[in-house]
Amino acid sequence: MVIGIELPKYINLEDGAPSRTQDKHNSTFTITTDTTTNTAIIGATSASNMSSTVATASTNFLLAAVENRCSCYDLTKNSPIADSRIREIVESAVKHTPSAFNVQSTRAIVLVKQEHEKLWDFGDAALKETMPEQGYAYLAPKVQGFRAAYGTVLWFEDQAALDTLKEKNPAIQHVIPQWSGHSNGMHQFIVWTALELEGLGCNLQHYNFMSEFREKVRNEWNIPPTWALHSQLVFGTPVDGLKRSRERTYLPLDDRVKIFGGK
Ligand SMILES: Cc1cc2nc3c(=O)[nH]c(=O)nc-3n(C[C@H](O)[C@H](O)[C@H](O)COP(=O)(O)O)c2cc1C
Repeated sequence: MVIGIELPKYINLEDGAPSRTQDKHNSTFTITTDTTTNTAIIGATSASNMSSTVATASTNFLLAAVENRCSCYDLTKNSPIADSRIREIVESAVKHTPSAFNVQSTRAIVLVKQEHEKLWDFGDAALKETMPEQGYAYLAPKVQGFRAAYGTVLWFEDQAALDTLKEKNPAIQHVIPQWSGHSNGMHQFIVWTALELEGLGCNLQHYNFMSEFREKVRNEWNIPPTWALHSQLVFGTPVDGLKRSRERTYLPLDDRVKIFGGK
């Protein structure tokens, strides 16, 4: 039994890559690659072990996407995908990402082209207004870098939804802001990773630390007063392919992950 999976654009299969055999979950399977279509062809020895084979392959693709996600700052005003696809990705994340008690308090606004540029003009103006001259001189070129990209997703939490949840659950109201942040971050991460799979580069910003910025955003796009701005996910086609703008270092996993009762 054989299925083909088209790979994300950033995974380039080697020419003539040899077949690989993996053995996981007690199922043996082979992966061969078709470099002309960038497709992984997965063959399982029987129909009965195909589902665990596909599950393992899907998990590995998911983990590869997680590993490849990066902060990319050299972005252009182009997008390899239609705005409708960007909308679809954001809508899918907003619909399916979990939230505490299924409160669904995350909100997103997608700005592209001139609207995106306007956002970063607000960022520049807010910095100029609030930062000492030296701070502004340091940050202004960064803001111009964000402005040079294609779009930004603004991420919000709707305080009204969270207040209702607090009223219903007074005993845990002190942890609700933390949970709202967790869920909002999950949304950001999913969209960040998905946009990269589609060939866009992204970086995550937090210019909402300035009230001037928050107010300009609220007025320009008619944001409801209960929506609190959490972050700005900037995206665009990478200037020079998708790669980390800064090298990432890793702390030893043994110090960070423990398992008890297993190996
Ligand atoms: C919660 C959170 C906040 C972040 N805030 C910013 C930020 O304000 N500006 C920025 O340029 N990057 C920001 N980043 C990106 C991190 O610096 C970056 O993810 C980290 O250094 C690892 O690099 P990588 O994204 O290339 O893997 C943030 C990331 C996270 C998860």
